[in-house]
Amino acid sequence: MPGSADRHDRARGQVKKVVLAYSGGLDTSVILKWLQETYGCQVVTFTADIGQGEELASVRAKAEAMGAAAVYVEDLKEAFVRDYVFPMFRANALYEGVYLLGTAIARPLIARRQIEIAKEVGAEAVAHGATGKGNDQIRFELAYYALEPDIRVIAPWREWDLDSRTRLIDYAGEHHIPIARDAAGEPPYSIDANLLHVSYEGKALEDPWVEPEEAIYSRTVAPERAPDEPAYVEIAFEEGDPVAVDGARLGPAALLARLNELGGAHGVGRVDLVENRLIGMKSRGVYETPGGTLLIHAHRAIESLTLDRGAAHLKDELMPRYAELVYNGLWFSPEREMIQGLIDESQARVAGTVRLKLYKGSAQVVGRKSPQSLYSREHATFEADGVYDQKDAEGFIKLSALRLRLGKKARG
Ligand code: ARG
Repeated sequence: MPGSADRHDRARGQVKKVVLAYSGGLDTSVILKWLQETYGCQVVTFTADIGQGEELASVRAKAEAMGAAAVYVEDLKEAFVRDYVFPMFRANALYEGVYLLGTAIARPLIARRQIEIAKEVGAEAVAHGATGKGNDQIRFELAYYALEPDIRVIAPWREWDLDSRTRLIDYAGEHHIPIARDAAGEPPYSIDANLLHVSYEGKALEDPWVEPEEAIYSRTVAPERAPDEPAYVEIAFEEGDPVAVDGARLGPAALLARLNELGGAHGVGRVDLVENRLIGMKSRGVYETPGGTLLIHAHRAIESLTLDRGAAHLKDELMPRYAELVYNGLWFSPEREMIQGLIDESQARVAGTVRLKLYKGSAQVVGRKSPQSLYSREHATFEADGVYDQKDAEGFIKLSALRLRLGKKARG
């Protein structure tokens, strides 16, 4: 692109300090080095612990060893689940019917904290390690701009000439950056993990016909190897949010972690899908979301008892739109916040307990109860009742059918 190199060159002289969203993995380690070399600037790293299960002490050591000007490592698990995951589950959000949005929902949190740190340390720029092909660049950057309109954004993947995995690995080798290998000695899949999910993309999965190898999975046992006895789990809700598992009250992060264990032990929550990225291409991904899968079933079940029909159906109409906003990186947008307001209002009386049966990969709702229940057994019963006059249904049906009858007569 004409002028693009110039533009970057001019910009490079002006950046003195940048806050990098640093995972400690190969890509962001290369980026840390590359920013120092190319921009000649100070690099402050920020690593959020959102339950990805990495050894974070070694992330700090790595960043320090590479000469980071400052190293931030923060435990944000509670905020992640309370302020992002739970609000999203109030909406029962599923992208394209199947994806529980585990990566999409974490990006705004990371971006928000990155912007705050940039202000704290007086950095004029922020950087991330998302490639120019994916959704994550969009999610990070829309959040940056929504929170700090004039922030300078550096996306090395769109700027450098390390345009393939191989060149990246060569660069890492030249700069003594360790390259992670899987058990078979190969570079791993493109993985993104947090308390809600683990996602896998790339390598053999790039062929949508190829079944993922069993060794990929890290949070769920294979359904065929799950226990032969089913397990029951009870999830209690208050105001639309889960608050207890099997009678034990737990904070948001601990609760989701507990559900991950329970679901994972029974092979619940594996999804293998092809999704439409915002950028325009289709991509194949494999996901493990054990706790989230239990949660979405349970939340729908408690709503089935406590939400008015009109309210529930309206929520369901808005859900795909809401999910798309989250997927497309529009968490910090007026329309997401408007829909959230409506959803949150609907949850005031969504309380009670749901019982799930976990068995070899499935999670089935087998019971629900609520002090706020709208279910009236007296009305629904097949036995005699003293509250409902069946004759009323006749007029209701007749009037409902009126236009159908007039229409049929007119058409002949
Ligand atoms: N395709 C999923 C999404 O867009 C997962 C992306 C995973 N990101 C990654 N860096 N591997 O939400």
